[in-house]
Amino acid sequence: MQFPEYRPRRLRKNENFRRLVRETQVSVDDLIYPLFVVPGKNVKKPIQAMPGNFQMSVDNIVREAELACKLKIPALLLFGIPSHKDELATGAFAKDGIVQQAVKKIKKEVPDILIVTDVCLCEYTSHGHCGMLEKETVDNDSTLEVLTETAVSHARAGADMVAPSAMMDGQVAAIREGLDENNFADVPVMAYAAKHASCFYGPFREAAESAPKFGDRKSYQMDPANGDEAMREITLDVAEGADIIMVKPALPYLDIICRAKQEFDLPLAAYNVSGEFAMIKAAAANGWLDEERAMLESLTAIKRAGADIIITYWAKQFAELQSK
Ligand code: PBG
Repeated sequence: MQFPEYRPRRLRKNENFRRLVRETQVSVDDLIYPLFVVPGKNVKKPIQAMPGNFQMSVDNIVREAELACKLKIPALLLFGIPSHKDELATGAFAKDGIVQQAVKKIKKEVPDILIVTDVCLCEYTSHGHCGMLEKETVDNDSTLEVLTETAVSHARAGADMVAPSAMMDGQVAAIREGLDENNFADVPVMAYAAKHASCFYGPFREAAESAPKFGDRKSYQMDPANGDEAMREITLDVAEGADIIMVKPALPYLDIICRAKQEFDLPLAAYNVSGEFAMIKAAAANGWLDEERAMLESLTAIKRAGADIIITYWAKQFAELQSK
């Protein structure tokens, strides 16, 4: 096909033509909505760099879950900020830990929304690293035990799915085994398989109060320069029993999402992280970008690249827009 026989503009003439030939549709069905739960009562503390997002106590999280459920958002992703942090991350797997309490309460009050829990230790360790320290380095194998205990305690509280994000080698296999041994063979694992050491997690660390007190996460999270290694990381997680694989962040990593979609046939999630959200919010607040269009274009691009599931702080705003 060549000009002048082929004129692509013919099918762009008006919105009805454009609707007919549109290749990618983002739906509320694709979205997971992250929430941050803190101790206390009636707490709703704005997260500065993530306008519209809050640290909420369990009572308010339940209300937010109700809203999300009414908007037909299929799933929440829960992060917890404990009242007390220690070297051993005991708050992560405590029976009455903050996430465990929230899961129990949401399951009881809002049974029709899925609860996914982030399984990591950085919010619970006094040093802010994602695992157990051996001097200044994060020790892989002792961390696996703590991650497994954490995942099992989330399942015990009623979590519908667990999402390990610590980037320890072997974490998916360890958690799968722990779940199976404890009668949670039917609880799926969404693996943060290709998670890069990204500056775009900056606002999240304010939200989750999880910035490392020294050093960085480059000895466990991936080098942003590596795409082949991302495929190897995903291959490992698939072999270890992941039910859903994830690429993170999303927008600066669309090539990796695209490759993962082609090379693997498991459901693929992409995490539209806090910094991707904050950039657009900040530009919009300055009048430099149209927020709604930037949101829709971002989510569409992530889906077009190949993501089946998008974890996004825009989930509620998107769902509200769709329900208008
Ligand atoms: C926990 C975790 C992080 C994010 C999700 N799980 C932070 C980190 O790895 O430092 C980031 C999410 C976001 O930026 O929106 N390890």
